Amino acid sequence: MNPLVSIGTPESETARITGERRSQHLVTAFVITGLLFMLLPGTFLGVWNLLNISQEHGSGSISQAWIQAHGQAQIFGWVGSFILGIGFYSLTKMKSTRGFPARAAWLSWALWSAGVLARWFGGVTGDGWRIVLPLSGALQLAAFVLFFLSVRRHRPEPGGKKPEVWARLVVASTVVFMLALVSNCVLLFHQALVANTPALPHVLDEQFVVLAVWGVLVPTIWGFNARWLPVFLGLPQPAERTLYAAYDLSLVGIGATFLSWLPVAAVAFFVSTWLAIDGLHIWKPAINPPKIVHVDPRFPWFVRLTYTWLAISSVLGMLAVVWDSSGGIWGASRHAVTVGFVAAMVFSIGLRVLPAFCGMRILWSTRLMFWSLVLLFTGCFLRVLAEPLAYQNIWAPAWKILPVSAIIELSAVTFFALNMAVTLLQPPAHLRAQPAAAARG
Ligand code: HEM
Repeated sequence: MNPLVSIGTPESETARITGERRSQHLVTAFVITGLLFMLLPGTFLGVWNLLNISQEHGSGSISQAWIQAHGQAQIFGWVGSFILGIGFYSLTKMKSTRGFPARAAWLSWALWSAGVLARWFGGVTGDGWRIVLPLSGALQLAAFVLFFLSVRRHRPEPGGKKPEVWARLVVASTVVFMLALVSNCVLLFHQALVANTPALPHVLDEQFVVLAVWGVLVPTIWGFNARWLPVFLGLPQPAERTLYAAYDLSLVGIGATFLSWLPVAAVAFFVSTWLAIDGLHIWKPAINPPKIVHVDPRFPWFVRLTYTWLAISSVLGMLAVVWDSSGGIWGASRHAVTVGFVAAMVFSIGLRVLPAFCGMRILWSTRLMFWSLVLLFTGCFLRVLAEPLAYQNIWAPAWKILPVSAIIELSAVTFFALNMAVTLLQPPAHLRAQPAAAARG
């Protein structure tokens, strides 16, 4: 950009508005892609898997490729798309004088959407999987490299202030995101060359899920929470050292998982969780009034509740090391973190920020926001309670609770998607205000 154009001239203002509009369109495209993946390839397939597991009283006869396709669609198709969209929107604005990288961003969106779709299609149908799966890995990686390069070019100018804890956590999880996609690509090429099924070997797949959840989703949330919770919930500024210690321990947990030192990993994730809760002051009283305009007024409590699920997940992780003989306690621990923490965080913070990012809109229904969260927490509670009891053969009626939990969670996800979709169809806030103002005037 011409430096003369950046000192408040009409041209610089026009360029700023154009850049803002372009980034809003792009984040909207990523959000719509994410919603579509969340609904059908993600949740619907998850519900279908759980109904079959409940009928068979075990996951032994269920296609591992389908279970993995569900996990991939949720982690990368849904939450990954949201992270890329929000990343393009917010990280390209960080004190940089460059304009919005529209061409790279749209190419990244196209490659990413094609990659996650191919990953799901190859896993579920098995058609041409030896070509489709490695191709999906390469497409996802190419999309992310474009994202990474675009965001890197928008780093703050050298000599500026030291990056804050939130920015460091987001950058670190972006680097691990790239590592996860490189591993994914290598694994899928290897699978295509030597294996006779699209499903990755069980242990390798579990390790990869831990890398994606604890290396990408959880620290990205901690990073954005460190930035937004002092504003949205009125909490004190995060305790930087405690938060860094939490992050370092989560890396220890990931490393220990890859070395198969599961007791060490479980303890590391447990301590890391409690340090993060302490460092972000989640359960401490607010020092400023929360910002709850246009969201459900119980929004601060929903956010706090997600951390209860993270804590429950970490406790279940330790119990699983000692007692799990069926995958039920591990499954409950994973569900507590993916649904209770990650999905519920997206349902609460996402509905707070995304309408504004996607063109300065206002959330369509705060009541639907409330019900989507209540249903999600209820479904999650039933699933996390019933899964160990059923899978471990402790209490047979728990098999009947699992399908109920799946339907409740499906309703929660549908309400969330409906609320976001109608919000995006509404005109931006300033255009909605005009007729009323004109009528008054
Ligand atoms: C909303 C309703 C959901 C249902 C009914 C559901 C169901 C399932 C089922 C039945 C499994 C098989 C393993 C087991 O027996 O526990 C599974 C695994 C998994 N789920 Fe979900 N899930 C849901 C939501 C989510 C969400 C929101 C995420 C992530 C953000 C997620 C991520 C995963 C992952 C990573 C796996 C492991 C996949 C693998 O082994 O590679 N799930 N889910």
